[in-house]
Amino acid sequence: MNKTAVITGGSRGIGFAIARKLAMEGCNIVVFATGPLNKYKDKIDEEFNKKNVPFLYVQGSLSDKDDREKLLRETLERFGRIDILVNNAGVAPLLRKDLLEMSGESYERVMSINAEGTFFLTQQVAKRMILQEKIFPTKGHIVNVGSCSAEVSSVSRGEYCISKAAVSMITKLFADRLAGDDIIVNEIRPGVIHTDMVSAVEEKYNRLISEGVFPIARWGEPEDVAEMVAFFCSDSVRYTTGNYVDVDGGFHIRRL
Ligand SMILES: NC(=O)c1ccc[n+]([C@@H]2O[C@H](COP(=O)([O-])OP(=O)(O)OC[C@H]3O[C@@H](n4cnc5c(N)ncnc54)[C@H](OP(=O)(O)O)[C@@H]3O)[C@@H](O)[C@H]2O)c1
Repeated sequence: MNKTAVITGGSRGIGFAIARKLAMEGCNIVVFATGPLNKYKDKIDEEFNKKNVPFLYVQGSLSDKDDREKLLRETLERFGRIDILVNNAGVAPLLRKDLLEMSGESYERVMSINAEGTFFLTQQVAKRMILQEKIFPTKGHIVNVGSCSAEVSSVSRGEYCISKAAVSMITKLFADRLAGDDIIVNEIRPGVIHTDMVSAVEEKYNRLISEGVFPIARWGEPEDVAEMVAFFCSDSVRYTTGNYVDVDGGFHIRRL
């Protein structure tokens, strides 16, 4: 029997690479994103349908309670269970603004998707995992895609940093709460990864890379993150929970 993996924000960027990797590992794939299916149809056909990967696309927003319930309902209707949840969907502020000028609307938008949506989807999925029959070595794996911004200050996108610090506590809380239920929860913290999210600041990051800010002097690729997520979702990880791994080319190392 295949495991069923739900990947939020699996339509593009890091999430798409995660969906592709977990499909290669033999999972049924459920992708959740806001865009209409026809926007992603060609790549879904290419990567999943043509390769006979059992696949479901659910359109909705992580910040919307009804959409989160729809995700769970449609996943269970199609596959009957959820074994892996990858909380990958996340947004940056629409406009980078100095901390002193950040608007309430931007704060609410970023927090409602990155933090609140992640928390309540995890709560919902965890309850379901607990009820499921244990047919794999654990009852479930949950992986949160956080960010180096959980630790690193960027005063032009404070709301994003706050949301990723919240994700880090969400990882710890659920790891603690679900350990006794045999559900493993960990986190990946990407550094600078080449996706649409950072296209507006590509020049800045090209400069930082050439100046040697990142010990491994290149852009991170979505596949770099996907490899670590797949590891954390694997049966190899059964006694490690509430942890995180930086996928950042060594950016977290303090240097003199
Ligand atoms: N790229 C980086 O350098 C970097 C660094 C650190 C952490 N991260 C984190 O990695 C994760 C993925 O980032 P990325 O770079 O791959 O971003 P991306 O290229 O902008 O892709 C974001 C994904 O999330 C979906 N999405 C956006 N809003 C959503 C919502 N409200 N509900 C459900 N899905 C939604 C998008 O699809 P639709 O547009 O169709 O909704 C898309 O699939 C995010 O949590 C991000 O914070 C990224």
